[in-house]
Amino acid sequence: MSKPVYIIANFKSNKSISESIAWVEAVGPKLEKRDDLVVVVCPPFTDLSEVKHAVTVGHYPLQVGSQDLSPFDEGAYTGEESANLLKDVVSFAIIGHSERRQNFNETNEQVAEKVHQALSVGITPVVCVQGADTPIPDQSPIVAYEPIFAIGSGQPDTPQNANNVADQIKQSHPQTAVLYGGSVNEENLKAYLEQPMIDGCLIGGATLDPEQFLKIIEVAYSQSWQ
Ligand code: PGA
Repeated sequence: MSKPVYIIANFKSNKSISESIAWVEAVGPKLEKRDDLVVVVCPPFTDLSEVKHAVTVGHYPLQVGSQDLSPFDEGAYTGEESANLLKDVVSFAIIGHSERRQNFNETNEQVAEKVHQALSVGITPVVCVQGADTPIPDQSPIVAYEPIFAIGSGQPDTPQNANNVADQIKQSHPQTAVLYGGSVNEENLKAYLEQPMIDGCLIGGATLDPEQFLKIIEVAYSQSWQ
């Protein structure tokens, strides 16, 4: 069977608990259970356990992810969310998003620690990079190429260039799935999913409205990647 395509929704620092639950209840029942598409929602930490509960009770084919996790074990690390505590509610974690690297001075070394923590408890890390020259921690199963100029700007990278970057990443990390992120929406998604080296998209702003997100999912369903 071919590898699955990933559509990952990054809510960033948006949505209260009730807003995230309303989103799950609008989106969840419309999702089809398919082996070729993995849909992940990454709400803020405050919403995670309620979102996980709603997804579980509804039996929705929706995975839950966090937007970060701690580089440390459990213990005396005030304010940190350790992978071991998160594993009850998330199966994915975005790591090293450019907004964290920029605003919180997150380093490649910290990113590597976070990936190690995630993998040690069975959480799948999604490592965000600026290109093939950003260090990618060993055994990273999923990488998201997210050029800063494209994030939230309405100026996405071209599908061709994103495919070239994915190709370069796969030359040194052949087992790694590579996603594209940065101003993806229901209009341009198809062009990225058609690229042979791109295994899905990490999407921010266009996921917040459940109706718009369902249009994105429709595009993903209509793609054939067998
Ligand atoms: P955007 O964000 O889709 O709003 O550009 C993507 C991201 O930052 O993950």
